[in-house]
Amino acid sequence: MRALITGANGQLGRALTQALAADAATPLTRDDCDITHEPSVMAAVLDHAPEVVVHTAALTDVEACEADPHRAWQVNALGAWWVARACAIAGARMIHVSCQDVFDGRLGRPLTEFDAPAPASVHGRAKEAGEQLVRTALADHCIVRTAWLQGAADEGPVGAVLRQARQQGVVEADDATSANLTLAADLAPALRHVAAAGRPGTYHLTAAGHCTGYELAQAVLAHAGLDVPVRPLARSETAPPRPAFAVLDNHLPRLLGWEPLPDWLDGVRRLLAE
Ligand SMILES: NC(=O)c1ccc[n+]([C@@H]2O[C@H](COP(=O)([O-])OP(=O)(O)OC[C@H]3O[C@@H](n4cnc5c(N)ncnc54)[C@H](OP(=O)(O)O)[C@@H]3O)[C@@H](O)[C@H]2O)c1
Repeated sequence: MRALITGANGQLGRALTQALAADAATPLTRDDCDITHEPSVMAAVLDHAPEVVVHTAALTDVEACEADPHRAWQVNALGAWWVARACAIAGARMIHVSCQDVFDGRLGRPLTEFDAPAPASVHGRAKEAGEQLVRTALADHCIVRTAWLQGAADEGPVGAVLRQARQQGVVEADDATSANLTLAADLAPALRHVAAAGRPGTYHLTAAGHCTGYELAQAVLAHAGLDVPVRPLARSETAPPRPAFAVLDNHLPRLLGWEPLPDWLDGVRRLLAE
């Protein structure tokens, strides 16, 4: 499978570059191809003539999206559109990675692929618009929503807990939001499976189980052997709205009989044992 990976310097982009190493995959960083520049995207996709483009490039900083909505929409909505349009012209399949923020999380139960999106933040609205534009531009697409993505131990939610513990001697963690912490290293091979299966649609792919930010902090500290107190985070009124119960139910993969991803706690254990 000839693959092109956008966002190759990111958490998922790096994991995918490893997982697709045997697939003649070409990783594209922002320097190789700025996804907000339509001609660059078109040239990159047409030059490499991939069978599949796995589109992971995104503006993932929720606060930065709130501060600069124009940029959020340029990257997360239009960027996805340019990639989808280029795939349509090149005859390539697109795997578009999206996130739990397309939901407001108010239902209080795990959300399936068949629940209607209802984004509450700039980040969520731009990501949801990106999904819509991909669906419009390209029939041969798979949209894969995941949650609380975790790359190396010093980045993502686990890295944030470890930094606070080591620098402040206390961890403030959000006990009002829940999601499925998903290792990029576990998601990457699952995305390869989605790409090979070639069934257009929208899928939820996350680690099994879910936790609050508070439970995650406790688990990280226990597995890192750090005896540091955890306090509930006092959220500022100006913080961007985050979905409270942003747990994704992997309903469609389960119906299709796909192998589930490992449990989030198992992921934390493996990550901190490395
Ligand atoms: N992080 C999460 O918690 C989370 C949760 C659910 C879903 N997701 C989704 O999963 C995907 C991958 O996330 P991630 O955690 O791997 O993100 P990440 O670590 O923040 O990496 C994103 C990558 O996108 C690149 N990028 C940003 N703007 C770009 C542009 N204009 N042109 C080209 N590349 C650009 C960045 O380049 P630079 O390195 O140069 O900045 C970065 O390498 C995204 O679609 C994200 O929405 C993430």
